[in-house]
Amino acid sequence: MSELMQDKVGIITAGGSGIGRASAQAFAREGAKVIISDINDDMGQETVNMIKKAGGEASYIPCNVATEEDVVVLINKTVELYGRLDWAHNNAGIGVPSASITESDSSDWDRALQITATGMYYSIKHEIPAMLKSGGGAIVNTSSTAGLSGAENMAGYSASKWAVNGLTKSIALEYGKQGIRINSICPGMTLTPAVEKWSQEAPEQAEYIKSNIPLGRIGKPEDQANAAVWLCSDKAAYITGVNLPVDGGHTAK
Ligand SMILES: NC(=O)c1ccc[n+]([C@@H]2O[C@H](COP(=O)([O-])OP(=O)(O)OC[C@H]3O[C@@H](n4cnc5c(N)ncnc54)[C@H](O)[C@@H]3O)[C@@H](O)[C@H]2O)c1
Repeated sequence: MSELMQDKVGIITAGGSGIGRASAQAFAREGAKVIISDINDDMGQETVNMIKKAGGEASYIPCNVATEEDVVVLINKTVELYGRLDWAHNNAGIGVPSASITESDSSDWDRALQITATGMYYSIKHEIPAMLKSGGGAIVNTSSTAGLSGAENMAGYSASKWAVNGLTKSIALEYGKQGIRINSICPGMTLTPAVEKWSQEAPEQAEYIKSNIPLGRIGKPEDQANAAVWLCSDKAAYITGVNLPVDGGHTAK
C-alpha cells in the first residue's frame, strides 16, 4: 500500500459496478478506509469483499442517492463508524434511452435529473458539514463529456451532467476558504460491464468510436479511478472547481 490516501475516510456512491467499483479499489489500494454504497446490495458487498481480499479496508452501506434520507443515513453511519469524513466520490448517475426531445419520455427526463443531478446535490449538501467537522475535505463528482458539450438524442443525460458540472464549480467557490476542494471527472466512453457488452455486440460502432479518440483506445474504469483518487489526494491540493475530461483527448477536437 502507498500512502496517497492513508487512513483517509471516504464514501463512493454507486460503488457496486464499473467506475465506482474501480474507484473503490483504487482508493483502498492507496490506504483509504472506503465506504461503498449502492442500491444493489449484492454488488456493493461484492466490491467490499474484493477490497478485503486484497488487504484493504471497506464497508457497505446501502443508499439510493435520489432519496435525501438515504444520503443522510449514509453519511451519519460513516461518521459513526470512522469518526470523520475526508473525501467522497459522488459517482451515481444514470443513462436514459436515446431519443430526440420530441420523442423522449418525460419520465426519463425526471429520472435523469432526480438521480444524476438531485442525487449529486443531496450528496454534496450532506457531505460538506461532516467534512467541515473533520477539518476540510475533497470531493470528486462523476460527470461526463456530455456535460461539456451537447449530446444528440441524449438531452436529459447531457442536461443532468451539465448540472453536475455547475454544482461542482459553484460549490468550489462557496467552500474553498473553508478547506473543501471539489472537482468533477468527465469520462468519455469507458469500458464498464454494460459498455463492454455493447462493444462486443456492435464491434464496428465500437471501432469507429475508438478511431476518433486521439489516444487510440476506449477508456478503462481504472483511468477514471486514478483521476478520482488523484483529485481527492493532497497531490491536487491547489485544484478546485475543475471539470476534468478523462477521455483520451476526445474533447480536444
Ligand atoms: N461508462 C461510461 O462510458 C460512462 C461515461 C461517462 C460517464 N459515466 C458516468 O459514470 C458513472 C458510473 O457509471 P458506470 O458506467 O460505471 O455504471 P455501471 O452501470 O457500471 O454502474 C452503475 C452503478 O450505479 C448503481 N446505481 C444506479 N442507480 C443508483 C442510485 N439511484 N443510487 C445509488 N446507486 C445507483 C447501480 O446499482 C450500479 O452499481 C455514472 O455517473 C455515469 O453517468 C459513465
